[in-house]
Amino acid sequence: MSPSPISFARGAPSLDIVAADELRAAADRALASDPKGAFSYGTSVGYGPLREWIAERQDVSVDQVIATNGSMQADAFLFQHLVEPGDVVVVEAPTYDRTLLALKGLGAEILAIPLQEDGIDVDALSRALESGARPKLAHVIPNFHNPAGCTLSLEKRGRLVELVGEYDFVLFEDDPYVELRFEGERLPTMLSMDESDHVVYASSFSKTVCPGIRVGYLAGPEPRIEAIKEIATNTYISPSMVSQAIVAEFCRSGAIDDSILTVKEALRERRDTLCAALEREMPEARFVRPEGGYFLWVELPEGASADELHSAAAEHEVAFVKGADFLLEGGQSAFRLAYSGVTPAEIESGVGRLAEAYRSLSTAAA
Ligand SMILES: Cc1ncc(COP(=O)(O)O)c(C=O)c1O
Repeated sequence: MSPSPISFARGAPSLDIVAADELRAAADRALASDPKGAFSYGTSVGYGPLREWIAERQDVSVDQVIATNGSMQADAFLFQHLVEPGDVVVVEAPTYDRTLLALKGLGAEILAIPLQEDGIDVDALSRALESGARPKLAHVIPNFHNPAGCTLSLEKRGRLVELVGEYDFVLFEDDPYVELRFEGERLPTMLSMDESDHVVYASSFSKTVCPGIRVGYLAGPEPRIEAIKEIATNTYISPSMVSQAIVAEFCRSGAIDDSILTVKEALRERRDTLCAALEREMPEARFVRPEGGYFLWVELPEGASADELHSAAAEHEVAFVKGADFLLEGGQSAFRLAYSGVTPAEIESGVGRLAEAYRSLSTAAA
């Protein structure tokens, strides 16, 4: 009998770390206390009490917030608002695969800037700008990067905010993992550091409440939010008021803080188990230990093929995402492991299978 499959592929939480009982209770309270707000069409900017909670958390005015159906919808609205065919858009290399797909779909000319252990290579971006690149937008994932696991340093945050002011383009701070820090100090958002209205910030309740609720948001300069409101109205009249009313109640009651603690505790254990297992079972693999979030990026020795490993791993019933999926070019020896959806026991066994698959390749090549 073949072993049951283990997937490091999906960036989603396992059900055991979703606060299901508290969410059901929040849903009950939300729908009982504000049936009109929850069951009606709302406004395109989202459910009022949720926007107020977000505005307070981000220290912005309510008019600077639009709550959407997941942050992917927020991303899509911002791209739709800003990007026209041929516009230059800066992305990190590697970056979230759906960002690449969305930008390519809009005909953007993508300028990929490499990531380093402390985030995007700001010197490389600066050189590109000095040499005449004129982006309309730069997309940056500041905390516990998907897929790279790294976090943007404070110094680089400051430099990016300066650059967007100097060269006048929008910095899109895509930050769904910010609450999931296991250790070290929380760094300020670039939204909070920006005094020239160039930063638009997105975050999500997918990682702190649950992905199925599909609630995310944008916070940024009021005129931009106003323009995006138009797109939202034409797209769906209003996002799901039922979902947003439940999230608002979950947040305002404080249940979200307990949920974040539970998620962080479980993910830290998973990260520790994964790092230890990789060091033990695949000592040739290199990775940056993530300080939070869902993902770990693995680099195999030069010449090793993540594509071949992917096929061999499938034969051992273990899955991951190939590095090349997160890049326009390169990444052939890299891959992403998501530890959010697997228990420590599954991680141990999954890395064992991965190492076996890897050794089968080296043996075949020898
Ligand atoms: C960097 C990044 N942005 C956006 C999203 C979209 O999240 P959601 O639509 O669930 O809020 C994700 C999801 O994994 C992500 O990793």
